[in-house]
Amino acid sequence: MTTPERPFLDFYEKHSLIPTTLTFVDQENFFSQRNFLFESIGIPTHFLRGIKILELGPGTGQKVEHLLSLRPAVYVGVDNNATSINSTQNIINKSGFRGSASIKTSDFLDYEDTDRYDLILAELVVPTQNDPQLFLRKLINYLQPGGILIYTCSDSLALLSETLRRAIVNKLGMVTNDIDKSAEDIVKFFEHDLDSLKGMNRIRSDWAIDQMIKPTVGPQLSIPESLKMFDSQVKFHGSSPRFLEDYRWYKSPDSTVESLNEVAIQNYWNKCHNFVDYRFAYKARDSSVNRKLFAASNFLYSVIQETQWKKKSEEAVFTYGEQILSLISNDCSGTSESLQSFLKFWKSGEPKDLQQFRTWWGRGTQYMSVVRTS
Ligand SMILES: C[S@@+](CC[C@H](N)C(=O)[O-])C[C@H]1O[C@@H](n2cnc3c(N)ncnc32)[C@H](O)[C@@H]1O
Repeated sequence: MTTPERPFLDFYEKHSLIPTTLTFVDQENFFSQRNFLFESIGIPTHFLRGIKILELGPGTGQKVEHLLSLRPAVYVGVDNNATSINSTQNIINKSGFRGSASIKTSDFLDYEDTDRYDLILAELVVPTQNDPQLFLRKLINYLQPGGILIYTCSDSLALLSETLRRAIVNKLGMVTNDIDKSAEDIVKFFEHDLDSLKGMNRIRSDWAIDQMIKPTVGPQLSIPESLKMFDSQVKFHGSSPRFLEDYRWYKSPDSTVESLNEVAIQNYWNKCHNFVDYRFAYKARDSSVNRKLFAASNFLYSVIQETQWKKKSEEAVFTYGEQILSLISNDCSGTSESLQSFLKFWKSGEPKDLQQFRTWWGRGTQYMSVVRTS
């Protein structure tokens, strides 16, 4: 019997890498971006001073530097990748941080801690775990009542443009055993796409390795799936992008925890077509159409993740692509043009046909913050 692959860890370990390196020349600008993120999800950074923070999967540790600059009392990171642990430890050592900061080596599934934290952070780590919901449940247990969990969600809608890029990578056979050369070829092919993504500060070859080459093990995790799982143990607090509108009066009899999560879920279904394309903010629409869009994107996503790329996979990409086009053409004109461009390329094989596709990227990762209620 073969041991099942551990998401992230086995691939990173095999290649001795942590492909999440950020390049930024200006630290002040990077810190402002991080502040903006925290504030968008409802956490003014001032409130991090003197608190206890637990982080799952700090990666390179570059974001830890920002966290420590906010002067929490305690920072504990948990990771099981040697490259990540060394890199994060170096950053802690150099930070001059005066509180307590440590990084623990453990698979989070085996991690045990008697402490309870005010803030827990799990950024780019829960989706694609074998059981993302198991991770969330475990994270919540380490939170103080009233504490905040920040985690990221991702789903096949938000990843649609990247799924189509991965389809191109498969069709053109761009992944070989030489991971560095594969990454180089992928970056070159998508150079214009990446040029258009202003504000991207991840090293391009890391993007290629993590998003186009690394096999995806477990399922994605959508916002509704995550909120449904929590029941009333947590309540929705904030998100980036901020998609929730809630006009209820605070004294309304229906202003319970469950209903707040329900309002967030309903908002998601009316607006999730906006996660497909970061360039536009389309009007809210009928949730039943978005549910069909979600299902079609899921099918397409699963075709691309299959290990064997076959003639049938190529046909399926076209079929689901057309289906998706019919579900967005009325309400999402800019995105439809990009998808048409992709479908034209899919038939012709001519890279020039991708011109209107290249600037299309989704809101691939959504940040969520939730408060533990009890
Ligand atoms: C994609 S990286 C994200 C890094 C960082 N949070 C960021 O936002 O840039 C995922 C990180 O989670 C770690 N990780 C994934 N699964 C883990 C697990 N089961 N236990 C411990 N660490 C894990 C990986 O080693 C890696 O450092």
